[in-house]
Order: sequence, then structure tokens, then C-alpha cells
Amino acid sequence: MDAEAISRDDSLLVGISEESVIVKEEPEKKSRKKMKNEEKEKELTLYDLPGVGAATAERLKEAGYDGVMSIAVSSPGKLAEDAGVSDAVARKLIQFARDSLKMGFISGVEVLEKRARVQKISTGSKSFDALLGGGFETGSIVECFGEFGSGKTQIGHLLAVNCQKMDPTAHAIYIDTENTFRPERIKQFADGLGLETDKVLKNIKVAKAYNSDHQMLLAEKISEMINEDKLNVKVIIVDSLTAHFRAEFIGRGTLADRQQKINRHMHTLLKLADMHNLCVYVTNQVQSDPAQFFGDPTKAVGGHIVAHASTFRIYLRKGKKGSRVAKLIDAPNLPDGEANFMVETSGLKDV
Ligand code: GTP
Ligand code: MG
Repeated sequence: MDAEAISRDDSLLVGISEESVIVKEEPEKKSRKKMKNEEKEKELTLYDLPGVGAATAERLKEAGYDGVMSIAVSSPGKLAEDAGVSDAVARKLIQFARDSLKMGFISGVEVLEKRARVQKISTGSKSFDALLGGGFETGSIVECFGEFGSGKTQIGHLLAVNCQKMDPTAHAIYIDTENTFRPERIKQFADGLGLETDKVLKNIKVAKAYNSDHQMLLAEKISEMINEDKLNVKVIIVDSLTAHFRAEFIGRGTLADRQQKINRHMHTLLKLADMHNLCVYVTNQVQSDPAQFFGDPTKAVGGHIVAHASTFRIYLRKGKKGSRVAKLIDAPNLPDGEANFMVETSGLKDV
């Protein structure tokens, strides 16, 4: 037996076994329900899961699970792999987490209440804000795709600053895959809004992602960072979402693998948006679409997976006289439309 197999077995022994889950579930469930009335959901920890001991909890933490919610939204296969437990145990853990968080159907009224918590990060351009119904929404993934120089990275920088205008305690997290994050640019935008540049810079956490695996790992660590450092993160920028994947997976034979990985990454990001009521902004390149003879012969990289997981999709292109055109392609409750704006040193301006 190799070392890894032994440690897997160890965690099985110390942490969790099928019996312990079955035996413990009933009484624990009751006491938990009682506690639920007294405590808030937030106070549940991994240790409250039936049969999860220190070893398994540590293992889960290392794998990026930071609380009961992250278990509740996991899939049995993934949890089983990450925790080193059987599928059946993983399924029970997930069920328990969902029960204790009262997940499942909620009424339309509750959805509306949840929607009331949504915040909108202004872009500084009235027409761009109007296109998005007020700005970039928290609780969702917004994808901007477009050719080089269309302004995708500029918008990423802008959101990192403008979220701090909206909420002075807000933080931004920037995953930079193309080495294009520029603190100088942040300063210019902060100056443009009359914000304290040092404070704005301090509240942006930047990480360079060296390859697609690193990029995914960084995203998986964000929840832990938010909880441990008690950060009020309002926006996560992934610039670019697809560049590493595109460079690493070449040829048709690798497409399925690539899409599976992007899918996992998008789900990590969607969970973050939902759990922490923050906006995830991702940028995406375009590739020429030879099938398109008329109109714009470009389409977004990442295909259906990225398109489907994004709540809002915006196509950016260069317009007349140095302006930029943002076209809303997909939004849950807004009509498609276009907005014109200029990228200026101090921010975005209406044409
Ligand atoms: P790729 O990452 O190459 O795909 O492009 P992108 O869509 O990220 O483009 P980006 O956001 O980097 O846009 C670059 C453009 O923004 C430049 O060509 C300029 O037009 C504009 N820009 C960048 N910085 C400034 C600035 O300080 N002042 C002004 N006026 N415009 C700027
Ligand atoms: Mg860019």
C-alpha cells in the first residue's frame, strides 16, 4: 500500500466510516434542528457534519471546503474523491448539509428577498449602466468577450475600483492570467472617482495564475480567504478566463477534457457569486467562426459551457472614433441592446 492509500485509510478510520454516519445521523439531526432555532446558519462548521472528525475536516479544508455550505453544493463524486470517502458516505454528508441549511425549494417571495440583496456596481458610463439595468450585478457571473484592445481588461480594473466607490469596505480579488494587471491604472481610476488611491490598491488582492490548474486552484481558495480574513469581497475578476485553457488544450482530441475543466472552474465561480453575494467578472477572447458568412465573424472561446454558466454576456468591440460598443447578448431579465462609451484615463465616459 502506498503512502497515499495509507493516509486515505487513516482518514477513513479517524474521520468517517459508513456506520458512524448511519448511527449518528438521527440524534445529530434532531439536536441540530433544535440548535438551528438558536444559532444562525453561519455558525455550522465542517465538524458539525455527522462522522466528520478532525482528520477528515482538515482534509476537506485542504481541498477547499470551508463550511457546510460548500459541502451542500458539492457533488457526491467530487466530495468522495476530495474527502477520501465512499460515494455513499459523500451522498449522506451532502444530504445532511442540505437538510441543515434548509436547501431545496424556496418560495418566490424568498427569491425576491434574495434579489433585494443584489448590488449593482456602476461603470461610470450612464449608457453602459442602463444596458445592464444599473450596473454589474452581485450574485452573478458577467462575461465580456471581444477582440484585443476592446476594453475587457480596462473594465476589470474599473470594477475593482468602482466596487469600492459603491461600498468603502469592499474588496476586489483579481486573478491575472495574462500579466496585464496594472496598479498604475487602478490609481488613475481611483483618482477619477476621488478615492484614496493607497486604500483602493490595498483592498485589491491580486494573484497571477501560471496555468489553468493554478487558475482553478486560486479560485477554489477564495472562499477560504473570504471566511478566514473576513473580507467583504464584492467583485472577483478573472482576466482572462479562457486564455490558459486555450493555450494548453490544443487539437480536437483534447476538447472534452478542456470543457470539463472549464465547467468545473465556472461552477466554482458561480458558487462564490451565490454564496458571498459578489460579482464575478470574467473576460473571454474571440475566435473567428468560419461558419459565419454574414455579420460579425467572431465567436467567444469556451463555447456553450462558458455561455451557459454566465448570467450576463457582453460582446465588446471597437466603435467609431475610439469609442467602444458593448452589446448585451444574454441576460435573465433585460432586453438585448447596445451601449456606447469611451475608455478614458480617469474612467469610462458616455460618448
Ligand atoms: P486583450 O486583453 O488584448 O484581448 O484586450 P482587452 O480587451 O483586454 O483590451 P484592454 O482592456 O487592455 O484595452 C486597451 C485599450 O484601452 C487601449 O487600446 C486604449 O484604447 C484603452 N486604454 C488603456 N489605458 C488607457 C488610458 O490610460 N487612457 C485612455 N484614454 N485609454 C486607455
Ligand atoms: Mg486584456
